[in-house]
Amino acid sequence: MSNRFRLRDALAEFPPYVPGKPPTTAPGLKPYKLSSNENHLPPLPSVVEAIADAGQAPANYPDPKATKLVADLAAHLDVDQSEVVPGAGASEILSALTNITLEAGTSVVYPWPSFEMYPILASARGAEKRPVPLLDDGRHDFPGLVAAIDDTTRLIMLCSPNNPTGPSISASELEGFMAEVPAEVIVVLDEAYFEFATAAEVVDGMAAYRKFPNLVLARTFSKAHGLAGLRVGFGVADPTIATALRQVIAPFSVTSAAQVAAVESLSRNDEVLVRAKEVAATRDQFEQDLRDAGLTVADSQGNYVWVNLDDDAAIAFEEACARQAVAIRRLSGGVRVSIGADEALDRVREVARSFEQSRIA
Ligand SMILES: Cc1ncc(COP(=O)(O)O)c(C=O)c1O
Repeated sequence: MSNRFRLRDALAEFPPYVPGKPPTTAPGLKPYKLSSNENHLPPLPSVVEAIADAGQAPANYPDPKATKLVADLAAHLDVDQSEVVPGAGASEILSALTNITLEAGTSVVYPWPSFEMYPILASARGAEKRPVPLLDDGRHDFPGLVAAIDDTTRLIMLCSPNNPTGPSISASELEGFMAEVPAEVIVVLDEAYFEFATAAEVVDGMAAYRKFPNLVLARTFSKAHGLAGLRVGFGVADPTIATALRQVIAPFSVTSAAQVAAVESLSRNDEVLVRAKEVAATRDQFEQDLRDAGLTVADSQGNYVWVNLDDDAAIAFEEACARQAVAIRRLSGGVRVSIGADEALDRVREVARSFEQSRIA
């Protein structure tokens, strides 16, 4: 079958994107999905209303420039509108960045494990992938990242807080790193989860962006704003880079409903941040409880927690959660549990306690 159409040979080598599983059902138990780092809270009520209103006119194309959203984001971030690039999620911004920088003969450097799209996007461009292993505590290895850069490198992807492990990048780590990166090489700071970060030394992407013209920010309304299903995010970039990004992003990729929802949610950003900090407080308590149960848990700054487990133990843990109708995410080296409803987290706490006891016994 593979000779039937002229598809790229490289497709056979693409790493798969494995979406978070839906929960299995178990008699008498409400199922919970803690496998995709979604916000377990719905968007704010006025955002839901705005979405319903936008649904009244599905026959019309959206505003291709997302004019109001771009204007509001620019005012909110105190940048020029030419520096804001809307997209269908941060994913589209990341994809566009790879489209404007990577091709065969170039390389891309990124931490690993990190967001699964990075190697997929690199493969799509035929670029050389240079994953740099994280440190044992789940943080970026900045000397390792610097060592991986050479004349072929056109893009560096950083993730703060890192998905799946959780730690954020500190301001001083990023500054030290940027000083080592050639000024013409683009660095993207993927801040999909930055609203959940509470550690004192976490890098402020906007402050860093103002210092380094080759730094691009990728942000999203999918996580803290609870709009993952609508697909809306944005990039903040030097106008030259932003213009190139707009060249490769499909027109109309941000739907009308997504635009009005993002505008409304941004206008209530303070409330969104309060809710994000509540999620963060739950995360910190959950993290501590898993540690108390005997598990090794990284310091998370996102809306999820990473548990280090060998591969057999990770399978056993995932299955034990599934028996409780809770879907979590298993990856190489551990499992990631998204912060969700108390009932769901309590079931995972219980799994953790009996899991460790059975390993000790
Ligand atoms: C680190 C990271 N970046 C980007 C994204 C993409 O988010 P979206 O395309 O929904 O904005 C995700 C989604 O899970 C993520 O974990």
